[in-house]
Amino acid sequence: MTYLCDNIGKNTEGHLTFAGLDTVELAKAFGTPLYLLDENKIRAHCKAFRSAFETLFPAGSLPLYAGKANAFTGLYKILKEEGMGIDVVSPGELYLANRAAFDLSHTFFHGNNKTDADIDYAMELGVGYFVADNLEEIEAIEEIAAKRNIKQKVLLRLTPGIDPHTYEAVNTGRVDSKFGSAIATGQADEITALTLQKEHIELCGFHCHVGSQVFYEDVFERALDVMLDFAAKVRDTLGFTASMLDLGGGFGVPYTEKDPKIDPIERLASIAERFHKTCKALFFPEPAFFMEPGRSIVADAGMTLYTVGSVKEIPGYKTYVSVDGGMADNPRYALYRSPYTCLVANKQNEAHEKLVTVAGRCCESGDLIQENVPLPASTKKGDLLAVCTTGAYNDSMASDYNKLLRPPIVLIKNKIPRLALRRGRFEDLVGREG
Ligand code: LLP
Repeated sequence: MTYLCDNIGKNTEGHLTFAGLDTVELAKAFGTPLYLLDENKIRAHCKAFRSAFETLFPAGSLPLYAGKANAFTGLYKILKEEGMGIDVVSPGELYLANRAAFDLSHTFFHGNNKTDADIDYAMELGVGYFVADNLEEIEAIEEIAAKRNIKQKVLLRLTPGIDPHTYEAVNTGRVDSKFGSAIATGQADEITALTLQKEHIELCGFHCHVGSQVFYEDVFERALDVMLDFAAKVRDTLGFTASMLDLGGGFGVPYTEKDPKIDPIERLASIAERFHKTCKALFFPEPAFFMEPGRSIVADAGMTLYTVGSVKEIPGYKTYVSVDGGMADNPRYALYRSPYTCLVANKQNEAHEKLVTVAGRCCESGDLIQENVPLPASTKKGDLLAVCTTGAYNDSMASDYNKLLRPPIVLIKNKIPRLALRRGRFEDLVGREG
């Protein structure tokens, strides 16, 4: 059997291994449901992005990890050690990064509706850059920066009108989007002109994010062309030369054997080629370049372990395998019909050939982890079910729906597991009650 990622394997007992450890032993030690995170894998991805940015792009360029994929203090400490910048999208993410003593001057603050309180908090902490979404935000930044007597660095979020051919919910770069100012409608010119008039704002450049889980070859290159064209036009019409360009996140990650495999570092080389070529053609001085990978840093560093509680075969219909977690810890199938690879961790010597539906334990029929996935015919109560590639958008999108307690996160570094986030407790459920 070949596995999706090189941090997954099988040992002599026929048990699934992850990050070099027996998952059956990990489940015994930490209980289920359980999120595992392979720290070595996260660090390897960070190193690869960092060195690609150093060699391919001008000085000052940096990959920014998108915390929406997964965020907790321990993870920000790792990112800090790896020299990554970060993109945060809420005061909560900022709080965590600050708690990890992350250098907030390498932080880009996103969001299409930052409140005045958010803006004030971010300035209080000394956030490096605001990625401003709309005219109201520019006015608010100007006003709050004036009160604080500072000049705030800002990038403008633009929508380049590129359809990344991904699923609807993560399709953000088209003209019809709640995010940013569209280049095609002239609103991007308008917000740029307004921002340049502000005394307490230093405009640094432009940002766009075309979508997530992007596999198509030329999406980033096309976005780059549109953004650089716009920057050149602004230089010619408004006399402002952008010194920073941020192309957002979105590198696609395989969740099943059927998904294409792309190497983000190879893609970066091709993006860099286009970057140099287009800047040259436009006689545009190369701006510092940024991207915001989230999924491609943490997704394959994750795995979730569940215990099977029941196997219900409905003759003529299907077989439900119910596990002790579900949409509360992984809402992605319920939300997007996202594919996942499921494996019975204690039965890796058995063929996975019987098609089943893996169901969660929430009181909701849509609470499924996956439909039509092959598991061993012998799957039964007590077996350990592993769901691969859960490092991104699982814990960060989890809830305590049905008042289920949140699973812990165990970080594995050099084959040593360490509890990074403890399992939820009943007290957590009343933590916000008066
Ligand atoms: N930068 C911005 C401005 C973004 O909006 C996003 C993702 C990223 C970076 C990171 O993109 P990534 O490299 O992770 O694709 N919950 C959905 C994904 C939503 C992504 C939203 N924005 C999912 O579970 O698939």
